[in-house]
Amino acid sequence: LENGLARTPPMGWNTWNTFECNINETLVKQTTDLMVSSGMRDRGYTYVNLDDCWMTRSRDAGGNLVADPAKFPGGLKALGDYIHARGMKFGIYEDSGTMTCQGFPGSYGHEQADANLFASWGVDYLKYDNCHNDGTTQQDYIRRYSAMRDALQATKRPITYSICEWGYFDPATWAADVGNLWRTTGDITNNWGSVDAIYRQNVGLASAAKPGAWNDPDMLEVGNGMDFQEDRAHFTLWAAMAAPLIAGPDLRSASVATFSTYLNPDVIAVDQDPLGKQARRISSGDGLDVLAKPLQDGDAAIVLFNENSTPKTIATTAAAAGLPASASYRLTNLWSKELTTSTGAISATVPSHSTVVFRVKPGATGTSIGTTQPIQGASSS
Ligand code: GLA
Repeated sequence: LENGLARTPPMGWNTWNTFECNINETLVKQTTDLMVSSGMRDRGYTYVNLDDCWMTRSRDAGGNLVADPAKFPGGLKALGDYIHARGMKFGIYEDSGTMTCQGFPGSYGHEQADANLFASWGVDYLKYDNCHNDGTTQQDYIRRYSAMRDALQATKRPITYSICEWGYFDPATWAADVGNLWRTTGDITNNWGSVDAIYRQNVGLASAAKPGAWNDPDMLEVGNGMDFQEDRAHFTLWAAMAAPLIAGPDLRSASVATFSTYLNPDVIAVDQDPLGKQARRISSGDGLDVLAKPLQDGDAAIVLFNENSTPKTIATTAAAAGLPASASYRLTNLWSKELTTSTGAISATVPSHSTVVFRVKPGATGTSIGTTQPIQGASSS
């Protein structure tokens, strides 16, 4: 959506993946503070987003949505102020049908009033869901989601618009004019099978992604129970797919390893690259995929992905990734930070359920990097 927003994929945190309906003001404030103190905000995770269950079961006598006073005693205007005071942005959730997925009042028929209320609270991001909807055709979907787009626009407040309709009716073919991002799949869960299945559904949609308009393969489960390699693979694949990076764990108890995954500046830079291209899958077979993402400065990010339960060697070339011919290429392993040079071959042994990701720079010679030996001794996984 050309509303000036989401020129790179949105980054932030959302309540749903860990807390579902068990949300409250204290949790959101503590999380906001942790996003600042951990360095997440300064790496780009600026949205603090409420999901379902923030409101009361019915509207007030005037037809307004009401924030649940037991969960948010200070109200949402004050919560938004708290978030803004810390240099962050405030996100909220509603539904395009008559009720949200958890049975709270939906915005159907109340689009403008609800958008106005959100704007008055200082909302910067709306995730708009698809439960209890009235229609079963693509036209119905476009009409419902466009109604809220227009209502948000009429508020004159910049509000990033996240369409959550789970991939029905090929949103990659129509949603770019309606929202800033659109879900392409059903809900993610905190296990490898879910992450891998969602990856496979989303990876083929690369041509739809561009600044202001992103495929959304759902929020991140990094830190929610998968092993370390799986968490890093999940994060790497989402970055390569230019996906929104919306963290899902309880940051109050997140491990050092979890923070180190979320904070990797080089992988974040792949996701946030201003060229705004989603990686294309340039080869696949036997559970071994190669993705290539062109980057603004002429580099490419190349991901070697092993879906198997045993380690595998995966190989490609700079030419296959679409890079120009060159006598040499500098490869930076974005997790280990190992630097190597290559005449064009790119390969690695990739652990089970894991990725190796390189940033590949054509023509790089340089002083400290003109060697095939690793400069830093970290492992390449
Ligand atoms: C749907 C969405 C989820 C979450 C829940 C909340 O299932 O896809 O992301 O927002 O609703 O009820």
